[in-house]
Parts: sequence; C-alpha cells; structure tokens
Amino acid sequence: MSEFDAASIASPAQPPTTPDGFAEDPSAPSPISPEGRGHRALPRVIALANQKGGVGKTTTTVNIGAALAEMGLRTLIIDLDPQGNASTGLGIENRGLEKSMYHVMLHDEPLENVVEPTDVRNLFVAPASLDLAGAEIELVPAFSREQRLKRAIDAVVSDYDYVLIDCPPSLGLLTVNGLAAAHEVMVPIQCEYYALEGLGQLLRNVDLVKRNLNPTLDMSTILCVMYDARTKLSGQVVSEVREHFGEKVLRSVIPRSVRLSEAPSFGQPITTFDPRSRGAIAYRDAAKELNNGTL
Ligand SMILES: Nc1ncnc2c1ncn2[C@@H]1O[C@H](COP(=O)(O)OP(=O)(O)OP(=O)(O)O)[C@@H](O)[C@H]1O
Ligand SMILES: [Mg+2]
Repeated sequence: MSEFDAASIASPAQPPTTPDGFAEDPSAPSPISPEGRGHRALPRVIALANQKGGVGKTTTTVNIGAALAEMGLRTLIIDLDPQGNASTGLGIENRGLEKSMYHVMLHDEPLENVVEPTDVRNLFVAPASLDLAGAEIELVPAFSREQRLKRAIDAVVSDYDYVLIDCPPSLGLLTVNGLAAAHEVMVPIQCEYYALEGLGQLLRNVDLVKRNLNPTLDMSTILCVMYDARTKLSGQVVSEVREHFGEKVLRSVIPRSVRLSEAPSFGQPITTFDPRSRGAIAYRDAAKELNNGTL
C-alpha cells in the first residue's frame, strides 16, 4: 500500500468527471451532504497547509482571502511563513516591521497590535518577516509552544468571519501552531507530477495534531491549482484527487495563469490586479464554494 493509500481519510468517490476533470455531471447528487462540506458557521479559522514548497499555498490564501473580503466577509490573513510572501503579496513592506507574527509567537504580543489593513476593504493581514525563521528553534523550549497561535487568535476571532493561516512549507512547530489553531485545514494540490507525494505525511500530521492538540480539526477542503488544460496530466491528477477525497475537493479548479504569478509583485491579489482574468474568476468561484458549501 502506498503512503498515500495508507491515509484512510478518503471519502466515497464522486461521480466520474469528464476527461478534463472540470465538468459536473448534471445527474450527480448535490454537493451538500452530511459527509460533504456543507455550510459552516462563521467565524471559520482555516490553515492552508502542504509541506511541499511552491504548490500554491500563499497564492490561494491571498486570493481566496481577497475574494471572501469582496463578498463582504471580514477576513484576516495570518502570515505564518518567514518568507513573508502573503504579506508582500498584499502590499505590506515587511522589512523593518516593528511588530510582526514573530512577536506574537515569541513575545506574547497581542495579535490585534500587528494586524494591518490592506488596500482591499474587509481584508487584513498579520504580517511575517524573516525573524520568524528563528521561531522554529526559539519555540522549542517555550511554554505551551504548540498553542501560542491558538491563544492569539482566540482573542481576536470574533472580529472576523474568516481567519486564513498561510503555513510555511514544513511540518515544524510553526505549521503545528497553524494546525492547532485552526478549525479546518485546506490543502492546495498542484495538478502536476508527484502532486500526491508527501500528502500521506501531511495527513498523518493533521491526525497527530487532532489526537493530541485539537480534537475537532477537520481536513475539510482540497483545491486543485495550477491546472493546465493543455495537458492530459492535469485532468488525471484532478480525477485521482477526486477519487481519493470525494466531496472535500472543491469543484472549482484554479488554472495555471501568468497573471496569478504576476499579481504579488504589484502587492495586489488577482481580484484587484486583473479582476476579469481567469484566475480571478476561478478564485472567486472557489471562495463562494468554500463559503456556501456549494457553487
Ligand atoms: N495558478 C497559478 N498559475 C501560475 N503560477 C502560479 C499559480 N499559483 C501559484 N503560482 C506561482 O507559483 C509559485 C509558488 O506559489 P506559492 O508561493 O503560492 O506557493 P507556496 O506553496 O505558498 O510556496 P512556499 O511553499 O514556498 O510557501 C509562485 O511564484 C506563484 O506566483
Ligand atoms: Mg507560501
């Protein structure tokens, strides 16, 4: 049995999709079912995690966050990655920040003191800077080291509808804090070779956190990203992911698009950088689906 198969969280397979992996079968049952994603009560705290690097965690956090904010939902993005890409991608100059997530994680700084507004109404960010890299080590001897983010979020969560946590590409203490603080985990999966590699390890970690720190944690949502309609492989990956994870997989699929990769260097989410682009439309659909439980 492969590492991936060993992860026994797969729910019943969905009805078959067309070869491009996109189409919905009109005779398919409603995506809302007791086991499905359904409508969930706000506020929701969602960790975006995948220990693989460069799979679209930050792009998804920023753009789903912006799309939710556009829908009128107050959304806080927590940048838990020392690379600080979610912060800079939202136009926050994170070099020389006086207070950042480092201070929240290591020096008990209240989260509300580091939150910055963005150019998007209803969208806020708690920025990270490079010093957060030291947190993985500095946290090791710290008191209640796995629950620091949870305590910080608990104090502000009632101010928001959504809190999205952009986790770093590792399964270290920062990601454990993200998983311990969240109600749900959302996993972006790249529609490429080896997309599922390492997923078993992520799922085992989610399970460990669930058993030891956060019993109600739910790996609720999977989003297929970087879909390339020109390749057969993309469709195959989407089908395989749907087979394993059923209704946890959003029907919306995010296309590979240069505009999505350009937006961060302008400090903007795709929804304002190029509001009518394919990427913006796809992330809006994904956000709607996440919020309503259906498209
Ligand atoms: N749908 C897409 N189309 C084209 N490029 C994309 C898409 N999604 C993400 N990218 C680009 O791929 C790269 C990796 O994406 P991103 O930074 O979101 O991944 P990540 O999982 O957060 O990475 P890390 O593990 O380093 O934190 C970035 O350069 C980003 O602009
Ligand atoms: Mg990232």
